[in-house]
Amino acid sequence: MPELKRLHSGHAPAVLAFELANRTYFAASIPDRGDDFFDQFTVRHNALLTEQEAGSCAFYVLVAEDGSVLGRFNLYDLEDGTARLGYRVAEQAAGRGVATATVRELCRIATARHGLRTLRAATSHDNAASQKVLTKAGFVPVGPATPADLGGKSGTWYQRDLQP
Ligand SMILES: CC(C)(COP(=O)(O)OP(=O)(O)OC[C@H]1O[C@@H](n2cnc3c(N)ncnc32)[C@H](O)[C@@H]1OP(=O)(O)O)[C@@H](O)C(=O)NCCC(=O)NCCS
Repeated sequence: MPELKRLHSGHAPAVLAFELANRTYFAASIPDRGDDFFDQFTVRHNALLTEQEAGSCAFYVLVAEDGSVLGRFNLYDLEDGTARLGYRVAEQAAGRGVATATVRELCRIATARHGLRTLRAATSHDNAASQKVLTKAGFVPVGPATPADLGGKSGTWYQRDLQP
């Protein structure tokens, strides 16, 4: 059974393998991370862990029984009970409800572990799968997302008020 785990330094090789294997798949819906991300992966990974230790972000990986990463689910800019949600799921696991179930689980963790009351997420107009994930996980559209929010595309901000 895949498990949602807090990101740590030991996840680095599996996260890199996940990002490399799915680079083309992800780039069809969201901006590509760029070559620098892959060239400087360890430095970037350590920087994320430093941010996480500081408490401004919380990063999670969905790990399969064999240790491979099936998805990444991240909370950014934790402040005043609110955070921004981002996620990506491996192509090999797509279309089986993995993102929807894990976003629901992360909503519970966001309240219980991080004391959050509201989550926000932006998705582009052409990302129908992500819109569906958010809607099924209880998010509602709250306003327009600009190309600055979405790496060049227009879309919608969604929000979910969490139950304590
Ligand atoms: C978006 C993403 C996380 C979805 O992951 P997933 O595990 O396949 O999602 P789920 O299986 O939980 O749900 C996807 C839903 O979208 C639907 N869907 C998938 N592609 C679709 C499309 N092109 N048009 C309409 N609906 C689509 C699926 O049918 C499913 O709905 P259903 O359960 O009612 O049938 C994954 O595609 C991904 O990582 N994409 C690239 C990164 C990304 O877009 N991240 C989100 C940024 S906001």
